[in-house]
Amino acid sequence: MSRLTKRAQEIPPFIVMDILEKAHELERQGGHVIHLEIGEPDFPTPACVCEAAKEAIEKGESHYTHSLGIIELREAICEHYNKRYGVHIGPDQVVVTSGTSPALLMIFSALLEAGDEIIISDPHYPCYPNFANFLGARPVFVNAYEEDGFQLRPDEIKKRIGPRTKAILINSPSNPTGNLLSGERIEKIAALGPPVISDEIYHGLVYGKKENSVLEFSDKAFVLNGFSKLYAMTGWRLGYLIAPPGFIRPLQKIQQNFFISAGSVSQWAGLAALTEAQDDVERMKKTYNQRRKYMIQRVRELGFGLPVEPDGAFYMLVNAKQLASSSYELAFEILERAKVGVTPGIDFGQNAEGYLRLSYANSLENIKEGLKRLEEFLKGRY
Ligand SMILES: Cc1ncc(COP(=O)(O)O)c(C=O)c1O
Repeated sequence: MSRLTKRAQEIPPFIVMDILEKAHELERQGGHVIHLEIGEPDFPTPACVCEAAKEAIEKGESHYTHSLGIIELREAICEHYNKRYGVHIGPDQVVVTSGTSPALLMIFSALLEAGDEIIISDPHYPCYPNFANFLGARPVFVNAYEEDGFQLRPDEIKKRIGPRTKAILINSPSNPTGNLLSGERIEKIAALGPPVISDEIYHGLVYGKKENSVLEFSDKAFVLNGFSKLYAMTGWRLGYLIAPPGFIRPLQKIQQNFFISAGSVSQWAGLAALTEAQDDVERMKKTYNQRRKYMIQRVRELGFGLPVEPDGAFYMLVNAKQLASSSYELAFEILERAKVGVTPGIDFGQNAEGYLRLSYANSLENIKEGLKRLEEFLKGRY
């Protein structure tokens, strides 16, 4: 162990993986587990995307690409941002990456020196503080509260800005809460001073409302996005970042050194996703929304706290404080006794302790069964 660096020793695991591994163990023993802990679409990748990938293989698109990504895809990304948000960016502001995760690491490593601070909401996607700590930077948390539907409060962020604050990270719609930040709040956050890094990976998965991009309010912001969620393409490992022009060359050098380029076949598949998969996206979105409505109604009937309906992504964070003080222990108890996988709130920050994240990236049939099992579990517990 002593040969390991401090950062390698200290990077925390994804707690949800502990749950998933335990669930798999129960399944190997013959148990039937309903997975509501899952963070990826249950749909297959749309056929038009798979066709484009096959074509790319047949055409021999098996080489490294330009380190920024193929120009066709970068242009389609610009077109997408222009059509959806009315913002004008050029392909020379886009770097295509092997998923949103590398894009996140690249932006953090371009903006944060050791000892610098980045403001992150609590609850948050677990990797944000882990990446910051890995780089020797310091995550500074701003709590978001269930009575606000976990909306970030710009005035709370303002209080945490100091001389070492290098960025403010936002994620809307959010993992784990499903919260959609209003355009008004994004505008206020963008006006606070430090550059905003906006993780827009769940954009498009918004029900009955419309999301805003940070680029509508600031031209010094950074955007992270990817194909994993909206296009059901987690395994294709494709994402991108959008940055102000002056940052692209350094980010490109990081990409060249660490990753060379994103996968060539995946990039052609991504182009088809952006240009041809709109009907598939609408179909998936409609189905997620049916499940969302059902789940909201049932979790409330079961007595979990959910004061504000989540508007986006495919998650909800429900208050289970009346059941246990440790969400980790509660999640394992639910898994072992009810055979339902849920993610403990503590995976998403101290402020999410006592909550559980439920995902509706599973069939309505499974969601119904999972919630029925939870109901029986709760009856047996009182
Ligand atoms: C908020 C958020 N950002 C980034 C990612 C990483 O996505 P990718 O598959 O594009 O690396 C995830 C995955 O769950 C996520 O929830």
